[in-house]
Amino acid sequence: MDAHVWMGSRQVVTQSYNERLSPYDGRVVSRAAECSADDARQALIIAQNASKIAKKVALHQRCAWLLDVASKLKEQREEFARVLCDEVGKPITYARIEVDRCIETITLSAETMRTMHGESINTDAMPSGRAAHAYWRREAAGVVVAITPFNFPLNLVAHKLAPALVAGNAVVLKPTPEAPLCAYKLAQLFIESPYATPDALSVVYGDAEVGSALVGSDIPRVISFTGSVGVGNIITRSAGIKKISLELGGNAATYIDTSADLEYAAARCAIGAFVNSGQVCISLQRIYVDSSVYDEFALKMAEATSKLVVGSPYNDDTFLGPLINDEAASRAMSWVESAIEEGARALTPPRCEGRIFYPCVMADVTESMKIVCEEVFAPIVSLVRVDGIDDAITRMNNSPYGLQFSVFTNNLSHATKAIDELDAGGVVINDMPTLRFDIQPYGGVKLSGVGREGPRFAIEEFTEIKSIVIL
Ligand code: SIN
Repeated sequence: MDAHVWMGSRQVVTQSYNERLSPYDGRVVSRAAECSADDARQALIIAQNASKIAKKVALHQRCAWLLDVASKLKEQREEFARVLCDEVGKPITYARIEVDRCIETITLSAETMRTMHGESINTDAMPSGRAAHAYWRREAAGVVVAITPFNFPLNLVAHKLAPALVAGNAVVLKPTPEAPLCAYKLAQLFIESPYATPDALSVVYGDAEVGSALVGSDIPRVISFTGSVGVGNIITRSAGIKKISLELGGNAATYIDTSADLEYAAARCAIGAFVNSGQVCISLQRIYVDSSVYDEFALKMAEATSKLVVGSPYNDDTFLGPLINDEAASRAMSWVESAIEEGARALTPPRCEGRIFYPCVMADVTESMKIVCEEVFAPIVSLVRVDGIDDAITRMNNSPYGLQFSVFTNNLSHATKAIDELDAGGVVINDMPTLRFDIQPYGGVKLSGVGREGPRFAIEEFTEIKSIVIL
């Protein structure tokens, strides 16, 4: 249950550990080694040396490495799911799904890298050029710093480690302090694999001090961060000249068109708004409903929500467990209360027991209310009346965020209009915006970040193109 430091392939048992308490029942569920800025710098030096070897390791071996990790993870599926449940209170059924996604992310990264190659260039295509053997190829960037969040503490680690390592980089990982054991155990599978590149992966724990030592150093060539806009801004200012990939917040929205299947849309929206207790960057937060179907949809949405099972994350049936900490629960309640004071109406009663915040559907909201215009990261969804597709698109785009949006419609021209005009990294037609297939490009525009994840797209972020001419 101790998350030790990995200084490359060497596990370091330190003097001091920070306890992680279960967000569900307050038990001590893991302990993370306390790290300093010096530990971060030492990990970077180890990675710098390892990166020189990593880029020369044959691709078939790097792929075998990932496939070995994926198969070990499959064997330990239940154990990993349990750690997710303990550390972040993820309901066990969804914890198992996350482990399965993680296995796929790692496997896909190996399969993708096998076929990612450059191309030859016709250098005599321009009058000023001349015929040559010219081509470009991808090379590992060198050292990658990966900083990961609490909401998917396994799969979002895999989305950084797997593409970076299979591309021939060395990585220093700083996982979320909320789920150190998840990251430690996954790193252990990578590090102890017989196919591992020696010292190519290090893991350090901590907050701002460790993070700034990693980000501000000249050693890493890429910083890959998933987390808040605030920290994303700090990283952008302090990283200097290196590649930065940021997957930040969202304020996902959908539109319910007059032509939509309302029953289906309500059932999917209830999942999209409340899965993982709303702690998803693409959690559905704003539902714009055409006025003519608003009342009927509102009823169906409240009904679908009331069927969700709330409670212990250890029960197979539970859909919604605790929020990550007390602060998240009290913030959610205060935002709902102030919306009610400003005139909003709760269609499902606002209720919080300990850190368990019950799914809350709000109506009669205005767009200046925090529950609408800021990222709530809690199980609260707001219904807003709109006047057709154009009004819905204008309102969806009226946000500093642009991660994912969706539209429920059976009108083809409304669907294509939404695809063309929504300002986001992803648009989903006829499902919730909270939809991610790990093979797809994933990332946002505006304050939602820069760069894309998804194995192929992350490999592009973690490599540099080298252009070659032989005359
Ligand atoms: C995120 O919260 O950005 C990750 C969502 C997911 O992978 O499903």
